[in-house]
Amino acid sequence: MMNKKNIQIKIYPGADELAARLAADFQNVVNEAAKLSRRIHIALSGGSTPALFLQKLASSPYRATIVWQNLHFFWGDERCVPPDHPDSNYGMTQKYLLDHIAIPDENLHRIFGENTPQNEAKRYAAEIKRLLPLTHNGWPEFDWILLGLGNDGHTASIFPGSDVLEDRTHVCAVATHPETGQKRITLTLPVINCGRRISFLVTGRNKAEMVAQVLSGNEPLPAAFVQPSHGILEWHLDEQAGKLMRLT
Ligand code: 6PG
Repeated sequence: MMNKKNIQIKIYPGADELAARLAADFQNVVNEAAKLSRRIHIALSGGSTPALFLQKLASSPYRATIVWQNLHFFWGDERCVPPDHPDSNYGMTQKYLLDHIAIPDENLHRIFGENTPQNEAKRYAAEIKRLLPLTHNGWPEFDWILLGLGNDGHTASIFPGSDVLEDRTHVCAVATHPETGQKRITLTLPVINCGRRISFLVTGRNKAEMVAQVLSGNEPLPAAFVQPSHGILEWHLDEQAGKLMRLT
C-alpha cells in the first residue's frame, strides 16, 4: 500500500532537537522563496509536536530572521470552535507563534471553526483554490504541509473508518471525532497528497507503535494513505517515537 521509496525518515535524539532542526530548515525554505519574491503556502497542524515547532519559530533568532511577508499560513484541520476556544488550532498557533511575529494579517488563512461546518468546508476550499497554484488536474498545491499523528493513526482530522478517507473529490470536508463527537474541518487526502513537501512531526514513546504500524504499510490507517503524488514525504521522529520501527 505504501510506496516506501518516496519516504524520508529522520530521527532526532529528542523533541527539542527535532523542533530546532525543522525551524532552521523552515527559515531556509521561507527566506529562499522571499529572495525570489515568491509566495509560499504552508499548511499547519494541531497537536503537541507541531506546537513545539511553532514555539521554536517564535523564539530567537527565528522570529526576527525569518522573512514573514511572503509566507501564507493555512491550516490542515480545525476543530469547530471559535478561535479563542482552548481546542482551536488557530488559537494554539496564535498563542505560540502569531502573537510573537510580524506577519501581515492578510497572510493568515484560518478555518472559521465558529461557522456552520458544511458551509465553512466549502468556503475554505474555495479560498484555497483561489490562492494556491493548481496542478494539471486541478488540485491546489501547497508548498509544505505539516502533519501530526494521532494515537489511532489519524492525521489532520481524517479518522480511521471515516467517510473522509474515501473522499477523492473535495478539497475540504467535515469530520467527526470518533470519541468526542466534536466536528472538525479537514483537508482531504487528495489535496494533502498534492503537497510539494509533506512532513509528519511525531514525538514520544506513546506514538511508537502507531509510527511502526503506519510505516509498515500493511494497515489501512489514515496516515498510511498520505502518499505524495509528486512531492516528497518526510517523517520527523524523535528516538522515542522511532523506537519500534525496525521491529515490524
Ligand atoms: C488536530 C490534528 C491532529 C494531531 C494529532 C496528533 O488538530 O488534532 O491536526 O492530526 O496532529 O492528533 O496530536 P498530538 O500530537 O497532540 O497527539
